[in-house]
Amino acid sequence: MTTNFSLAIVSCYFLVIISLSCAVGNDHKLPLVINTWPFTVATRAAWKVINSTSGTPLDAVEQGCTACEVAQCDGTVGYGGSPDESGETTLDAMIMDGTSHDVGSVGCLKRIKSAISVARKVMELTNHTLLVGDEATRFAISTGFKQENLHTNKSVGIYKSWLENNCQPNFWKGVTPNPRSSCGPYRPADTCQSLDCKQDTNHDVSSDNHDTIGMIVVDKNTIAGGTSTNGANHKISGRVGDSPIAGAGLYVDKDIGGSAATGDGDVMMRFLPSYQVVESMRLGMSPKKATTEAIMRIKKYYPHFNGALIAVNMAGEVGIYIHCNSFKNHCNVN
Ligand SMILES: *[C@@H]1O[C@H](CO)[C@@H](O)[C@H](O)[C@H]1NC(C)=O
Ligand SMILES: *[C@@H]1O[C@H](CO)[C@@H](O)[C@H](O)[C@H]1NC(C)=O
Ligand SMILES: *[C@@H]1O[C@H](CO)[C@@H](O)[C@H](O)[C@H]1NC(C)=O
Repeated sequence: MTTNFSLAIVSCYFLVIISLSCAVGNDHKLPLVINTWPFTVATRAAWKVINSTSGTPLDAVEQGCTACEVAQCDGTVGYGGSPDESGETTLDAMIMDGTSHDVGSVGCLKRIKSAISVARKVMELTNHTLLVGDEATRFAISTGFKQENLHTNKSVGIYKSWLENNCQPNFWKGVTPNPRSSCGPYRPADTCQSLDCKQDTNHDVSSDNHDTIGMIVVDKNTIAGGTSTNGANHKISGRVGDSPIAGAGLYVDKDIGGSAATGDGDVMMRFLPSYQVVESMRLGMSPKKATTEAIMRIKKYYPHFNGALIAVNMAGEVGIYIHCNSFKNHCNVN
């Protein structure tokens, strides 16, 4: 298992599954923390919570994802990364309780650093599931969070070079001027003369543009999961990805297990892959087989997408499946 995971890292910089449980040998003893990408700062923070006498999976997930938000895990989680078309960093996050089936999420959260904790407040202090944009910011302020600028010199720099590079890449299609060579403002094109204006931009998920932490924590009694991300670099303002959508970016159920997604969220959210994985495991599939099937479902429609799923069942058995178009020959490591 360890060999396969390292292979996955080497061949496509994609994700790593880390178990810091006190497992000896190959058994994944509970409790267990797994997350997408080699964000060990998050894994360790979650492990510290779940390996203490009072720690719950929910607390572990919140602390784990918070550690990533603070450390800006590779610039793809938290403040100061992935500026949108106006140069602003906005955050998506979700937390899910596998016992109560309660969920709290924020989408396009602005000017607040602690996205996962705001998501938890949505879950605990409201009957709603998802709050978005400036109104989510207002909610966060009212529940005690500090409003601050999410820019850093780095994110300003990324934004400037994007403008200097004629706003390439971007997520527009079917518009004029040609979005593959020009900045906007765009308007709908009357006729589409090149393939470029019809095709989805291929969101290149690589070592410096992988886009989310998805974390699942299991103990003997229950399971919880969380996601946090600053979304896709150069996204159109207002874009919300799969991370804060239950069943898309993440899904957990204490009778079965959990799953989380990373990769091209715009495509993956069309399939609710995390939900599919958990439901496949409910029907008896192993985590590995369930993640494979869910990726195959997406691949049938979008052969060139980049993405991966991680899964764990309540016995602590782990599975992953990776599909990287950019590394076609090496990447179907599972
Ligand atoms: C978990 O906590 C126990 C008790 O505090 C400690 O002895 C053990 O080393 C910890 N395990 C890990 C893997 O950190
Ligand atoms: C919100 O949830 C509480 C607790 O479950 C319930 O009593 C209340 O009726 C709910 N309010 C609305 C408007 O659904
Ligand atoms: C950011 O850039 C400003 C202006 O160039 C500079 O004064 C400041 O020290 C930089 N901050 C960091 C953290 O690099």
